Amino acid sequence: MSKKPNAGLSRRAFLGGAGGAVAAGTLAAALGTPAAAEAQVPPPPGPWPLPVLNPDVVRDAGYFGYWTNDPYKNTNYGCAYGVAAALLASIRSGLGPGSPWDALPLEMFKWGKTGAVESGTLCGALAGAMPIFSLASPASVVEMGSDLIRWYQEAPLPSMEMDYLDPKRRYPQQAQSISESPLCHISVSSWCKASGKLSSSTDRKTRCGKITGDVAKVAAIILNRLVPGQKYVPLYPTQPELYAECVHCHVDAPPPPTPDAVRLNNSLGITNCMTCHPDAQPVMTKK
Ligand code: HEC
Ligand code: HEC
Repeated sequence: MSKKPNAGLSRRAFLGGAGGAVAAGTLAAALGTPAAAEAQVPPPPGPWPLPVLNPDVVRDAGYFGYWTNDPYKNTNYGCAYGVAAALLASIRSGLGPGSPWDALPLEMFKWGKTGAVESGTLCGALAGAMPIFSLASPASVVEMGSDLIRWYQEAPLPSMEMDYLDPKRRYPQQAQSISESPLCHISVSSWCKASGKLSSSTDRKTRCGKITGDVAKVAAIILNRLVPGQKYVPLYPTQPELYAECVHCHVDAPPPPTPDAVRLNNSLGITNCMTCHPDAQPVMTKK
């Protein structure tokens, strides 16, 4: 084996090597046009350029993206696809053809539906936005994603902004719930409890379609906050008081050199602890 990592494995090396002319010719033939073969060159690493987005346009496209038919499964594509498709459509139309965003196929986002391959874990609407954040700003994806998740956990959803958007599905004034969690299961179940509707109902699907629009809109607002070459300035600069203390003991690293006995550092991730541990009390221990 060669000591060079990936030697002989990259597409560029492959196309540039001895068999390059044949390989490139075959690719172009398979893809139809030389221009299509050109588009196969991997796009550059981020940050990718962004236009200024219109959050309301992105919201409405997110709502309709949720309902887009997935021909492979003969059902709607759902929330993750809806958010990603809406953001990409506005980004692409704002930048015009030839941007690296052209390279992303929408099919790659549909796994997020129903909380990631129907597991009820991370809300797919959130999952649809995060890859776009990573490419728009590889350095700020955590801060941007945390803003989106924080808003999602605290906002009464769905908004009423799409109540009269869809002539085919009229569900105005739907009940709202505050999920207090980024999880699909908790978000849907808390809404079913608040509304008295079934999770299999068109009411619930419409609610998730609207949340797809709501998340797409806030994702656009977050993307609009990026200034090239500058650090992203978060919408929420501090942790919620409700569980900041829990994070301090269970997540934050003890300060060196003397380990702090009360800082356990035995948990990762900072979503609302109280949702799942409502009765937890700070426990003091001695050294
Ligand atoms: C989505 C639900 C959920 C959230 C949010 C959550 N936890 Fe948990 N946590 C669990 C579950 C489930 C377990 C494992 C079952 C158990 O022991 O209660 C667990 C276990 C733990 C344990 C180990 C429990 C033990 O028995 O020793 C600690 C410590 C803990 N969580 C702290 C936290 C802290 C701190 C936060 C917030 C930063 C948090 N958790 C957020 C669901 C959650
Ligand atoms: C002052 C530090 C401190 C704070 C603040 C704190 N904890 Fe703990 N927590 C502890 C210690 C110490 C234990 C016991 C650990 C052990 O015995 O392994 C513990 C245990 C737990 C456990 C394990 C199950 C149990 O009840 O024994 C959970 C879950 C937990 N904490 C969640 C939370 C949450 C949620 C918050 C915020 C409301 C929180 N903790 C705040 C120190 C703290």
